Amino acid sequence: MHQQISIAVVGSGYVGLVATACFAEIGHRVICVDNDEAKLRTLEAGGVPIHEEYLPELLSRHRGHSIEFTSDLRAATRAAQAVFIAVGTPQSRTGSADLSYVDAVASEIARSIDEYKIIVEKSTVPVYTNEWVRRVVERNGVPRELFDVASNPEFLREGTAVADFIHADRIVIGTDSDRAADLLRRIYEPLTSGAYYRSGTTVPGCCSDANRPPLLQTSTKAAEIIKHASNAFLATKISFINVVANICEAAGADIEEVARGMGMDTRIGPKFLRAGVGYGGSCFPKDVAAFRHVAEQLGVDFGLLKEVEKVNEEQKRRFFQKVRSALWTFRGKKIGVLGLAFKGGTDDIRESPALDVVRQLLHEGSIITAYDPAATERAKEVIPPAQNMRYVDDPYAAAQDADALVILNEWQEFAELDLKRLHYTLRYPIVIDGRNLFDPAKMTEHGFTYLSVGRPGLSHTRDAAVGQRVT
Ligand code: UGA
Repeated sequence: MHQQISIAVVGSGYVGLVATACFAEIGHRVICVDNDEAKLRTLEAGGVPIHEEYLPELLSRHRGHSIEFTSDLRAATRAAQAVFIAVGTPQSRTGSADLSYVDAVASEIARSIDEYKIIVEKSTVPVYTNEWVRRVVERNGVPRELFDVASNPEFLREGTAVADFIHADRIVIGTDSDRAADLLRRIYEPLTSGAYYRSGTTVPGCCSDANRPPLLQTSTKAAEIIKHASNAFLATKISFINVVANICEAAGADIEEVARGMGMDTRIGPKFLRAGVGYGGSCFPKDVAAFRHVAEQLGVDFGLLKEVEKVNEEQKRRFFQKVRSALWTFRGKKIGVLGLAFKGGTDDIRESPALDVVRQLLHEGSIITAYDPAATERAKEVIPPAQNMRYVDDPYAAAQDADALVILNEWQEFAELDLKRLHYTLRYPIVIDGRNLFDPAKMTEHGFTYLSVGRPGLSHTRDAAVGQRVT
């Protein structure tokens, strides 16, 4: 029988809310703290402010029993054995992570510590943050023996965050204290002992009693670096494959074949080798910049990450040129857009390459009809509906009478479109696909002019404009 631990999670964003739901799901008591009263009311009333698979189910199962929502950080701290900080660490003007929320929360936590607690960084933070948190807490008069600071980074992807938590590749706990390590191990024990999977999880995934997630214990600093380095490495992998895609395009090879061949090498692995319009989201752009900044502060030249960022920007620009190559001019052209979120499976539009492309199309005078299965409402907040910007709730409505269809993220729904219907819905059967969702041969068979990323076909900028096949 595992031990129930009292946990406070500060922040009810993607990370905080998922952690809240999942800690409760594996048997703990969780108080989720936020200072946004309207959001708390929504959560208390059963609402779920973000689109995340399994999150509504888990919240409704545990709300009112083992999950509580509050704005009272002090009371939550007093009630908890472990306080997880999951507030935002946005990018500052210099590129470094803005840690003012972490600082404010640490001071507030310090004011209510009257017995031993661990303070756990869950937000992505630069190395040395744990030392700052420790100093802040000490400055507020808390004796050193009453607290420890640990780092427990999350590796959740938006859209599959709940499954990523329950079926983790690894659980990293970074701490320099045995007492804190022991408490963190007990928190994750339902997963690492297999007990949770034996009880029958409703969240499908790769872990089971026979295949339990490994727990890696490191120093606090190493855990902080693991998080930044992992995100920076994945972003590097994407920029790398995007450049290889550009080589394929110029050479007349197929990036999908090349990525498959590379990915079969177990040292490389098949994941994160999907070429496209570049990476986006609330993590990669910010974390690459922050990690580069950390390196700089430590006197280490990480110019590689500058290149990674440059390639990512260039990838969006190249894609836009590809659209131009198919349409020649933009003024007055009607363009259907599929995908607004930074990737499929989420409603998050932060740093979305899709919105960059849409803005550019509007700037050049196109008339856009856009569809995304989940991100429309959020997109409307930053690109309001207008005469030249219409949002629709069906992919075929986006394609209706359009001069071309542009695909900007990888929802499964897009890959399953009825090609015959799509063909007669469009005014001209031109599809420019930034996520390689379709087989070029099949698209040609259906009569489309089809441009994608790093694949033979009507993809060469100059030749595409005059309608010749490159290979
Ligand atoms: C990312 C990491 O994958 C998580 O491990 C991490 O916990 C999270 O950041 C975070 O730090 O919070 P996420 O931002 O949700 O997760 O999205 P990813 O699925 O990693 O995709 C990031 C971007 O890369 C998207 O724009 C996606 O379309 C793009 N991408 C991804 C590619 O262009 N090609 C690929 O092969 C994979």
